[in-house]
Amino acid sequence: MTLSKVRVGVLGAGAWAEHAHIPGFLRDPRCEVVAIADPVIERARAFAERFGIPEAYASHEAIIGRGDIDLVDVCTPSATHFDLSMAALEAGKHVLCEKPVAYDYLETRRAAAIAAAKGLRTKLGFTFRYAPAMRYMKALIDEGFVGEPFIFNGYEQNSQWLDPMNPLRQVDHEADQSVIQVSSLEGYGAPIMDLGHLFMGSRFKEVVGTMRNFIPERMVRATNTMMRMNIDDGDIFIGEFASGALGSIQTSFVTVGNYPGLEARVYGSKGALICRLVEENGVCESLKAASADSVEFRELEVPERFYPPGGHKRESWRSLFYANLVGSLISEIRGEVPGNEGNFEDGAHVQELINAVELSYRERRWVPIPLAAERTP
Ligand SMILES: NC(=O)c1ccc[n+]([C@@H]2O[C@H](COP(=O)([O-])OP(=O)(O)OC[C@H]3O[C@@H](n4cnc5c(N)ncnc54)[C@H](O)[C@@H]3O)[C@@H](O)[C@H]2O)c1
Repeated sequence: MTLSKVRVGVLGAGAWAEHAHIPGFLRDPRCEVVAIADPVIERARAFAERFGIPEAYASHEAIIGRGDIDLVDVCTPSATHFDLSMAALEAGKHVLCEKPVAYDYLETRRAAAIAAAKGLRTKLGFTFRYAPAMRYMKALIDEGFVGEPFIFNGYEQNSQWLDPMNPLRQVDHEADQSVIQVSSLEGYGAPIMDLGHLFMGSRFKEVVGTMRNFIPERMVRATNTMMRMNIDDGDIFIGEFASGALGSIQTSFVTVGNYPGLEARVYGSKGALICRLVEENGVCESLKAASADSVEFRELEVPERFYPPGGHKRESWRSLFYANLVGSLISEIRGEVPGNEGNFEDGAHVQELINAVELSYRERRWVPIPLAAERTP
């Protein structure tokens, strides 16, 4: 049977669409980008010209309303994700959405339910679970390399906003500055929390955490001024998984180190695996392993099958990891693989964890998950 190409409409002609999303689609012959929209129409036109996309629009409605588009890619500012994803799902489109779908896990779950009811595939921009080294790590865990997983340690940290003059994006500059606002915990935390759930085969059931604002004043892109920004630019939490395993996660964008800055460690009854996604000496990923009878960590070579066509570990992580993400989604939409990994339901669980850590910080206490019992309607 010859399957038709998946026809993609991209929302947002910004930096991340340019470096990750569109290159990912262009690399996969099983899909084609047929349109792009951005309210700044010059940007949409420039991207159309540069990437050979046939149509450019000023409004997302033009894309969502097209009957010949199968997949809508939401790569816009975070505050717009939920409304755009919902509109696309309501119109019967598969959706790839940058994280978070929504700031409240209940909204993300609502979007997941609509997708499930309509038989649509969804995917969050959980970029790092698609890194070849992380995919190999998952395969090794599934094969039993670590035995029973005991402990997960996760980090996403780099120095992207250590310099207060580097303009902040994706922040609400009108938010109440008398209380700390969630920032790194969500923006940096989501992908490493997702990896914690994935690798441990279980989700956090109780957490306690804290956040800090280290740099009080920053340049803000939306206002083009230096402003008091009481945002969490560093945070740490610990927790217990439903399986009985333990976990810790630390995120920050003011910690010295290179991009993307993830580290995932799993220690189990038989072995341990440590995957680092940090661009160093031109290489963007490494995986190290030790076992109970050979405790010196050794570097593992990631097999070719975990790379996208033409991919290698010296490629930019932005295009390399996203090529795998896009490949996974296209395979799922075309029914070439079962299931739908990293979907909105997985995103809702991650968002619930973010909301729980925030509540723990605000009330200075351990918070159980599910959160439902903690909330007053
Ligand atoms: N997963 C990752 O590793 C990762 C990395 C970087 C960015 N991101 C996320 O990607 C998203 C985009 O980030 P960016 O850096 O490209 O932002 P950006 O500001 O450079 O670009 C966003 C673009 O979306 C456009 N836009 C706004 N509303 C729109 C609408 N309704 N329809 C169509 N276009 C619209 C804007 O005009 C802008 O051109 C953000 O949510 C960001 O957090 C994720």
